[in-house]
Amino acid sequence: MSPFVTPSPHHGRSMPLGDVLSALSLALDLTEGQPEGHSLRTCWIGLQIGQRIGLGEAEMQDLRYVLLLKDLGCSSNAARISEVFKSCDMTFKRDHKRVGAGAGAMARFAVAHAAPSCSIVQKLRTATGVLLASASVTRSLFETRCMKGAQIARRLRFPEAVAQGIAGLDERWDGRGQPYGLKGEGVPLFSRIALLSQLVEVFSRDGGPLKALHEVSSRSGTWFDPRLVSAFCVEAARPGFWEELARADIGDRLADLAPAGYMVEADDEYLDDIASAFGDVIDAKSPFTGGHSLRVADYTMTMADILGVPASRRALLRRAALLHDIGKLGVSSLILEKPGRLDAAEWEHMKSHATLTGRILGRIRAFDDLGEVAEAHHERLDGAGYPRGLSGDQIRRETRIVSVADMFDAMTADRPYRSAMQVSEALRLISESVGSAVDADCVEALNVMVTEGRRVSHGWSGVFGGLCGGDASGVISQSLRRAAASAVA
Ligand SMILES: [Fe+2]
Ligand SMILES: [Fe+2]
Repeated sequence: MSPFVTPSPHHGRSMPLGDVLSALSLALDLTEGQPEGHSLRTCWIGLQIGQRIGLGEAEMQDLRYVLLLKDLGCSSNAARISEVFKSCDMTFKRDHKRVGAGAGAMARFAVAHAAPSCSIVQKLRTATGVLLASASVTRSLFETRCMKGAQIARRLRFPEAVAQGIAGLDERWDGRGQPYGLKGEGVPLFSRIALLSQLVEVFSRDGGPLKALHEVSSRSGTWFDPRLVSAFCVEAARPGFWEELARADIGDRLADLAPAGYMVEADDEYLDDIASAFGDVIDAKSPFTGGHSLRVADYTMTMADILGVPASRRALLRRAALLHDIGKLGVSSLILEKPGRLDAAEWEHMKSHATLTGRILGRIRAFDDLGEVAEAHHERLDGAGYPRGLSGDQIRRETRIVSVADMFDAMTADRPYRSAMQVSEALRLISESVGSAVDADCVEALNVMVTEGRRVSHGWSGVFGGLCGGDASGVISQSLRRAAASAVA
């Protein structure tokens, strides 16, 4: 087995919370079908508006979190959108942000995005069904997303103003928004700023500043708070505004805007909570992966105990397990939920999740080599894995542990294309790939974990329990007991 890499120089250190969230906002961009940096640019626009209307430092800090995390609940309705519209959730979400303000715009959008790859008959049938059920379907899609986003924001210890700001993102000034039809000043201020900023980002990217100004002005008093539209127009006329927005280092510009007295440092414990919360965002993308990241983390840490992984590597290992599939936020639900075999192009798209995982996590400086460890979870010892075709000692010990935990959970859970395997069958298949795909010591640790019904207690049950809405440690314990019983049988 390859040696551990040098302990992280950042271990036990903290880093600005804004930096961590800026990096993770890329994952939310992907889920929304937006290009990298959409959330960062939206955040920068919103902060300019916040400054212009004279928000205080504490409010500016909360506004920053709303703007960066506005799409925190976005993965939770992805599978449902694909199911209802028979359409790629990411394309749907991308285009939904560009819907015009005119009468019938939403209906035209629904028709255009219903079953795009099906026959005209199927398309019309889907569109008709969607339009007939439109009000309730639309509301439930928005409600799922808003509530999940607010729930995760609360788990991340943000104040209620941040949770409410995220929950109200799709409400409109005229009361015709979603999901609750809040109106005027009844819509949280941070939500009003976020919706306006988001639209400016999307339309200015697509059609330039004039297009953005036109869309904003024409929706003043309907979609948008007129006072905020005026503030934005003053900012937009400021020399250098659009040039600054277009800068590649917009993330650094955001850091410069942080009020010094309100900088929040994320320590190790908080970083763990953030990783757990994003594990929940990842798992929400598909009904078939509910709890996957949390279970992989639990199995990984149990195996780490058995293998004697040093304490200095435990935090990285757990975060890598929680976030190993974060790149799946950039994979279409049509592929994730496909009930049959993937074709070659679909398989390539599916495989891209590993690369995306590395790219997203590699941006978080405090996580050091986490990106490399997590990106490699589908590599094989014989070099036949992906995304890089690493082999032998090129695959770190941490990755090998996560890989085995991931395989075990994937095999013993239902998938769109097959039912869950018996634990004994999964253990047999994994054991057969020792040496070619997986590491012998890790598989031995998995066997010990399952046959002895071991579980770990790392003091995370509070976080898990909170995220899962119950006693998650009990759920995990039950799953291990079931696994042990099944293996013995
Ligand atoms: Fe994966
Ligand atoms: Fe996985």
